[in-house]
Amino acid sequence: MTEHLSEAVATKAWSGRFSEPVSDLVKRYTASVSFDQRMAHQDIRGSLAHARMLARQNIISAADFSAIESGLATISSEIARGEFVWNLDDEDVHLNIEKRLTALVGDAGKRLHTGRSRNDQVATDIRLWLRDEIDAIDALLLAYQVALLDLAGRHAETPLPGFTHLQVAQPVTFGHHLLAYYEMARRDRERLSDCRHRVNRLPLGAAALAGTSFPIDRESVAAELGFEAICENSLDAVSDRDFAIEFTAAAALIMLHISRFSEELVLWMSPRVGFIDIADRFCTGSSIMPQKKNPDVPELARGKTGRVFGDLMGLLTLMKGQPLAYNKDNQEDKEPLFDSVDTVRDTLRIFAEMVPGISVKPDAMLAALGQGFATATDLADYLVKKGLPFRDAHEAVARAVRAADAHGCDLANLSLGELQAYSALIDEDVFAVLTVEGSLAARDHIGGTAPAQVRSAIARARAALQSAAD
Ligand code: ARG
Repeated sequence: MTEHLSEAVATKAWSGRFSEPVSDLVKRYTASVSFDQRMAHQDIRGSLAHARMLARQNIISAADFSAIESGLATISSEIARGEFVWNLDDEDVHLNIEKRLTALVGDAGKRLHTGRSRNDQVATDIRLWLRDEIDAIDALLLAYQVALLDLAGRHAETPLPGFTHLQVAQPVTFGHHLLAYYEMARRDRERLSDCRHRVNRLPLGAAALAGTSFPIDRESVAAELGFEAICENSLDAVSDRDFAIEFTAAAALIMLHISRFSEELVLWMSPRVGFIDIADRFCTGSSIMPQKKNPDVPELARGKTGRVFGDLMGLLTLMKGQPLAYNKDNQEDKEPLFDSVDTVRDTLRIFAEMVPGISVKPDAMLAALGQGFATATDLADYLVKKGLPFRDAHEAVARAVRAADAHGCDLANLSLGELQAYSALIDEDVFAVLTVEGSLAARDHIGGTAPAQVRSAIARARAALQSAAD
């Protein structure tokens, strides 16, 4: 009986200490292999760098290192071919790979874990994995920015009602409006590149929490794995997940921006507004209402934003009560992080493809501009330029707007005589000021909506993207 038990227990890497096997329920509850196998490639890279350093430092022999190297190469290709057998009994990606390595190369495989713990190993794997994902997300943000610039370039002169409080405020160009989303994406990329520096540090060498008694060379491992620096304190190295939280916060902002854009797309596509159409391949129909064409992609992006906010809140909460150093709680960091990465990647990919499929209905945009006294500020500015203090000009125009509203017409449809009732300063030249084109062209400074400014903003943005790529 005792013999039978110790045999069952001995299948675990850490089982020597235990007198009975873990129950099936606990095994399932504590295992992470079902999801952390996603980091297998990074785990192998980290192990290779660690083993190479051990050999350089004469902690393991050159023969052991080459056995480890060829064993890991075999495992890599088994995983790539989908032939690697992941085993719940081996708990996580690290122990699965180590066990297979030992089966392939014997004692050398058992020496790989010298001077290392799964605690510094897993922290290294996540950082390597996230670093690659940040680069992929940055490339997708760039593609999304290019799509926005292309569409903005086609609509540098297309007038759109600019809203505040969702009430018609002043004319803007559709291109100018899209450039606002370009700016958000620019900040998103800045945040990711800033966060990447803190992701890109090596925890390996911290071992379980205190460092190791072997003469390791952490700098060489960092250099081989492309880390900018090493984590300086062993306790912090194994327990820090700030970098994952920072990334998820940046991801939450990316989604927040996409969600705001989505809300506008949904509104603009509503037949009551009718400013745009989205290509059929990004929309779906209704199973009951034959006439429906629904903007499912932006709606779902708006909805998925909530998942990423949830991932962020989950990670913050995961960390807040943890004493130093590593705790098993940390295993829960992976699924929210993976979910955020997957959600952001899928969403950005689909947006980069969907934006070029947006068709614009300039007539509807212009018609909407005729319904909200969008050039009232221009009339006030006109009076100020003729010497009236702004507050008085504001008051005079407000009364003119009330009259036009009562007539059911726009300011430009009032006669010169009617307009002059509100200010004697008004002259024939007022009608040029009251046009949408005049209003747009007047906002001719950096950051303004004048078509010439929109075109140069697009040119500056393209030049910045180009010089970043060079
Ligand atoms: N699967 C674990 C994780 O994801 C690896 C580290 C486990 N370390 C330990 N001492 N139990 O965090």
